[in-house]
Amino acid sequence: MPVTYARQGRIGLITIDNPPVNATGQAVRAGLMEAAQAFAADDRAQAAVIFCAGRTWVAGADISEFGKPPQAPFLPDVITAIEALEKPVVAAIHGTALGGGLELALGCHARISAPSARMGLPEVTLGLLPGAGGTQRLPRLTGLAAALDIITSARQIPAAQALELGLIDALATGDLTADAIALAETLAGQPPRRTGDLPAPDADPAATDALKATLARKLPGQIAQTIAVDVVTEGLALPFDQGMAVERAGFLALMDSPQRAALIHAFFSERAVGHLPQLRQAQAAPLDGVGIVGGGLMGAGIATACLLAGLDVTLIERDDAAASKARGTVAGLLDGAVARGKLAADRRDTILSGAFRTDTDYAALSKADLLIEAVFESMDVKHQVFAELDRVAKPGAVLATNTSYLDVNAIADATARPGDVLGLHFFSPAHVMRLLEVVVADRTSPRAVATGFALAKRLGKIAVRAGVCDGFIGNRILSHYRAAVDAMVLDGADPIAVDRALTDFGFAMGPYAVTDLAGLDIGYMTRQRKAADRHPRDRVPVFADRLYEQGHLGRKSGRGYYDYAAKPPVPNPDLPALLVAVRAELGLTPRDFTDAEIVARTMAALVNEAARVVADGTAARPLDVDVVMLNGYGFPRWRGGPMHWADAHGLDRILADIRHFAETDDHFWRPAPLLVDLVATGRRFADLNKEPQS
Ligand code: CAA
Repeated sequence: MPVTYARQGRIGLITIDNPPVNATGQAVRAGLMEAAQAFAADDRAQAAVIFCAGRTWVAGADISEFGKPPQAPFLPDVITAIEALEKPVVAAIHGTALGGGLELALGCHARISAPSARMGLPEVTLGLLPGAGGTQRLPRLTGLAAALDIITSARQIPAAQALELGLIDALATGDLTADAIALAETLAGQPPRRTGDLPAPDADPAATDALKATLARKLPGQIAQTIAVDVVTEGLALPFDQGMAVERAGFLALMDSPQRAALIHAFFSERAVGHLPQLRQAQAAPLDGVGIVGGGLMGAGIATACLLAGLDVTLIERDDAAASKARGTVAGLLDGAVARGKLAADRRDTILSGAFRTDTDYAALSKADLLIEAVFESMDVKHQVFAELDRVAKPGAVLATNTSYLDVNAIADATARPGDVLGLHFFSPAHVMRLLEVVVADRTSPRAVATGFALAKRLGKIAVRAGVCDGFIGNRILSHYRAAVDAMVLDGADPIAVDRALTDFGFAMGPYAVTDLAGLDIGYMTRQRKAADRHPRDRVPVFADRLYEQGHLGRKSGRGYYDYAAKPPVPNPDLPALLVAVRAELGLTPRDFTDAEIVARTMAALVNEAARVVADGTAARPLDVDVVMLNGYGFPRWRGGPMHWADAHGLDRILADIRHFAETDDHFWRPAPLLVDLVATGRRFADLNKEPQS
């Protein structure tokens, strides 16, 4: 039984025990209803406490039930029944009270919380709005502005702040159970204080309109936040019961929306990427000490990520000057974390004087459990570094390369322990970006893979397994759709219009703004590196080479596709003439591209290469591609990732597009066999999202 009722003296004890996170699935809802009835019927109980077993209070509705036929009793009815009881009920909160879990607490007559608990209404991140009274009860406790902030930001607030806002009534000072029972004792015999009976806060149309305008600007395309604001305000203008009906209608409408399906796909995919058979077989190496070789921006960022997670880091540089520069870079990144409120100032000082060390001698790495190389991208240099690591690392240490494209098998050859070698591809800035590609080479042991995943968890990152190939999952797909985008510009599209079409689609940034941020030198170097393998029919973005040759490197030189002297940046005024000249030189007659065609070509190229990445095992499943693109490449989360989007858009339409584009370029536009097969057999990428077998 996931919910039990017992009594201690005159206090009824309702316990929810539904691992892992006490989600309110049907059995919990039914159990709560029965427990509430048992408490009501128990004449010797004058107040009750609801507790949760395990690591947390209720973390919300059971998301895995969404999209399936709803089963009674429904959560709003359960909470309303608890609120309607004639005797007071206390919520005793620990861990996280999220979504329907917080709404359950709001329906109780008093709330006490462990000081470490956090509370929030994350429904909008799932494309929903709070659907069990949160939109109507929360504002009655905290006021309108705080409630709208909590609902639309989805942020989790700490218990102390919840107390200040009036969301909870008390913080436990000792044992939560004992304190909650003591609170129930003080309320026993008194009439219950029902949140729904409290007066609604006054409307504030100006503030509400301003919030909606901000949301529209910051979250283009997303609907849940704005609908949530409307539901809160429309509901509060009505009697409580009618307000609840407004909430229900809004919730059910969002439940049917494609955005809800996409966001929940993203939620479960981000957890499924860690469900690999390899990880079940192996124990990760300990992570007490991490060694990093190379203190450039990437090495320093990785060091900072590790230090912020409480790990000990030793960073190796080639001489004292470089070591001291790296120390300065790390100190600067930690300062940034202090400024953003992510790190206490005194913790920064302790880290710099204790947990973080720099050295110029590889011998300093002899005790490290995990060694991460982040030096210049050259196979010769990597070989030298890995030979050194092999010499000094203790037996069982895991040796990782942060290369973004070099062959991890070849890097492992520089050691006598290839089983301990893997790729850990961080994304820049490494202390901020959540994605980590764990690159598994032919001989990488399950233990080394498990260590990569354990590191990601420790750093608060999302690890995705990737196979060895040029660019792994993300950069390989990126280079393919970049090629499609560059081809459009050669053929007449305006790079600024391309950026706008793709940000309108939902990408966080357009490809040319991204290029300016990364630096045009990066793409130039990549093209140089791949020049020898170039096919005569590959299309070269000569305009990008030209910009680079003129010294326009993007943001770092002040000009690239945009001009950064202006605030905000404006399109580079010289770009149109440069494009005209390049097209004339290449004998190309420019034509117009609509936004729809820009999106269609970009997405077709992206999905086509992603299909190959899945087919050849570089990505374990389509969902792994989605997680990479969502967390490393600014793909709109509310579209669920490119593979989810492709399924929803129609694989047959994408294949038809590719065949149509191939009429004018059958070298680039070759349908991936997997895509052809899926269309022929009437399947979708989602059908391949079952657990990988190897
Ligand atoms: N429903 C179903 N399963 C859930 C769940 C939920 N609400 N929340 C977490 N889980 C599952 C996860 O999928 C995961 O399962 P696997 O181990 O099989 O992968 C497991 O519980 C543990 O989750 P995490 O790995 O995320 O554990 P964590 O300790 O890192 O985080 C957490 C715990 C903070 C609760 C996090 O899981 C979380 O944020 N969950 C979602 C909370 C949420 O969005 N709640 C609102 C639901 S919508 C709602 O409630 C609508 C309404 O108003 C009626």
